[in-house]
Formats: sequence, structure tokens, C-alpha cells
Amino acid sequence: MLNICILGSTGSIGTQALNIIRKNRDKFNALALSAHSNLRLLKEQLYEFKPKYCVLTDSSRAGEIDPKDFPSTKFLFGQEGLKQVVSLKEVDVVLVAIVGIAALYPTIEAIKAKKRIALASKEVMVSCGEYVKGLAAKTGSQIIPVDSEHSAIFQCMQGQIEGSLKRLILTASGGALRDLSRDQLEKVTPEMALLHPNWKMGSKITIDSATMMNKGFEVIEARHFFDISADRIECVMHPQSIAHSMIELKDGSVLAQMSYPNMEIPIMYSFTYPQRIESGVPSLDFIALKRLDFEAIDADKYPCLELAYRALKAGEMYPAILNLANDDAVRLFLEGRIPFTKIPQLIEEALDSIDGSIKCTPENVYCIGSKVRDFIAARV
Ligand SMILES: NC(=O)c1ccc[n+]([C@@H]2O[C@H](COP(=O)([O-])OP(=O)(O)OC[C@H]3O[C@@H](n4cnc5c(N)ncnc54)[C@H](OP(=O)(O)O)[C@@H]3O)[C@@H](O)[C@H]2O)c1
Repeated sequence: MLNICILGSTGSIGTQALNIIRKNRDKFNALALSAHSNLRLLKEQLYEFKPKYCVLTDSSRAGEIDPKDFPSTKFLFGQEGLKQVVSLKEVDVVLVAIVGIAALYPTIEAIKAKKRIALASKEVMVSCGEYVKGLAAKTGSQIIPVDSEHSAIFQCMQGQIEGSLKRLILTASGGALRDLSRDQLEKVTPEMALLHPNWKMGSKITIDSATMMNKGFEVIEARHFFDISADRIECVMHPQSIAHSMIELKDGSVLAQMSYPNMEIPIMYSFTYPQRIESGVPSLDFIALKRLDFEAIDADKYPCLELAYRALKAGEMYPAILNLANDDAVRLFLEGRIPFTKIPQLIEEALDSIDGSIKCTPENVYCIGSKVRDFIAARV
């Protein structure tokens, strides 16, 4: 039995992870859950899964849960609560599925506790990749990617010997706005951008898919996960989301991992690696699919992708600035306070104006957060 601690159990990844546990009670146990604001869903999860621990990260809402209703669960609160659950002796896997920079601190604590990390929260590697990888190498903590693209690459890399990799090819669905022209993007509303054609995800990552910043983040993540330079990571539009990403080897062979779009496969693999179990995802029907399409990504339409490459090449704190500025810009767009096309503009201005040449450490990432927030706020 694998004891799993799910950080962000009320989110899109968290609920899909619980679905896996629901279908495999003999293999997985939801030992600890964490949620921030969705107490209605959290309570349903507590009734159903009866975890031994629950962390409410927004401790100001503590009064809204009566522990007497959940006698098998011990309640903990805030960042300190997260630190305690990820370090529990009984925890085998920590699934990090908290959106935004709030995922960084508990991931670091889980690495220090030498846990297997199933890493969904891309902001962790984007903001502090070198540090996190270095720490994991020191403690021996294993970090398994959950993002479908990195899971695909990780799966293709199994059995490859060092020095065989030539390049990585990340596939992009193009998000909700892929059929609109650059001019039409000016008038896009949050409702339009939230309608992702292939994946059902949280609102922040769905907007990141529409701007293509999500792909930019994945380039940065891939650089850290697979220790490969930015010029050997390419992105290609693949509207069907069947090939989740590819690797090209020295001899020109290309390997892809394919399936119908379903996050349960990469989440489950991060739990069971290197073993595989039934997922219930239907087998690919190639005859019905008929074709798989690949297209170049229009750099003028999606400036966020280039901004991510630029931040990665600049190094140190620039990827963290990119991530923090994007967090704020996306929030402002979702609140209806800026147009869609202002998202890349604000991020570019932040990269141009804020000095990111200092060493990238978690402390510096937290410190620069308020600087980026003030910078963006002054431009709205
Ligand atoms: N969804 C996908 O298919 C997918 C694929 C690849 C990677 N990812 C990555 O996985 C992460 C989660 O994505 P998602 O789509 O599951 O997001 P989501 O649906 O928005 O869920 C986010 C989770 O984080 C919790 N949370 C929000 N703010 C928090 C805070 N300040 N402190 C602690 N917890 C907080 C939320 O709790 P409440 O709901 O209770 O407020 C919720 O449980 C993101 O980094 C995303 O980029 C997602």
C-alpha cells in the first residue's frame, strides 16, 4: 500500500489523483490532503477518503470546519501544516499540485524529508529549478514529473544511456484560442480563453495554455528535469494532444509517448514508477484517428513562448520573475482588469526592468515576489 499525500486535493490534478485512489483502494491510500479555499469539496473528500491528516492552508477559514465531523482526521493549518504532513514517516509519495509559487516551500520540505515527489506544480521548477534539483541530488529525493509532456519524455528516456539524447520536442495543443488571428486576440474574454479544447484543467494553467506561456514554462522545466540546454528543446503545435512529447536520439530515432489526453496516466505513473498498472484509459484507435497533425508555432501570435526562452537564457532570477509576473498578469486578466494581449506586455516589461541577476534561492524568489507585484500593479 502506497501512502500518498496530496497537496492541492481540491484542484484539477488533486481530484484526478483521488479518482485514481478511488479505483485502486488496494494499492493507494490518501494519507493526507491539503486544500486552500474550496471547503465544500474538501469536506466531501474527507467524508469519502477519511485521510489521517488534512491541512487547510488558508488558516483564516479554520472555523468553518468542525473536527468532530471528521473523527479519523487530524487537522493542521498553513505552511507549518504542509511542512508537517510532507515530512511524516508514513508518507511514501508527495503529490505537489498546488497552483502558483505557494508550491515551492512544501516541495522543498518534502525533498528535505527524502520523499518521492510527484511534481505537477510547474512553478517550482520554473522559479527555482537549479536549487530544487541540487537539493534533491543531495538528499536522494526522487522527483517524478506529472506534467504530461515531461512524463512523456521521462517515459521515453527509460533505458536510454547517457549521451544518447539529441533533442526534446514538446507538443502544444494551442489552447482555446488557437484558431483566432492575432488581431482577434485583442477582444478575447476570460470565458473564451478558459474553453480548452482537449484538457480540463484549473483556470490559471488554462490561460497559460491560451497564451502559450504554459509551453514556455515547460521548456524551462524540461531544461531542469532532463539537464539539456534550451537550444535543444523545441516546441511544435499538435492540435490533437495524442503525442504528449517526443525525444530524438543521436541516431535520428524519435520516440513518442501517446495516449488519448488523460492526466490520470502521468499521475498514476508518478505513483507507481517504474511499474505500470491498469488506467482504464481506452486504447488508441489509430484507424479512427486517421492522422496526427504538427504545425509550427506562430511566434508573433504567442510572444510568451519567446519570453520564456529569453528568461531561461538570462538565468538566475529571470525565470522566477517571468513566473511571478505571469501569475499577476493572468490574475488581472481573469478579473477583467486587463485585455488578453496585455499579459505578455506586462511580463516583458517586468523582465526588462527588474534586476534578476542575483542568485536564485528560495529566499530571493520570495523577496522578489513583492517587487514584481508592485511593478505590475503600478502599470494597471
Ligand atoms: N490541471 C492539469 O491538467 C495540469 C497539468 C499539468 C500541470 N499542472 C500544474 O499542476 C498545478 C495544479 O494545477 P491545477 O490545474 O490542478 O490547479 P487548480 O485546479 O487551480 O487547483 C489548485 C490547487 O491548489 C490549491 N491552492 C490554491 N492556492 C493555494 C495556496 N495559496 N496555498 C496552498 N494551496 C493553494 C487549491 O485549493 P482550493 O481549490 O481549495 O482553493 C487547489 O487544490 C499547477 O501548477 C499546474 O500548472 C496541471
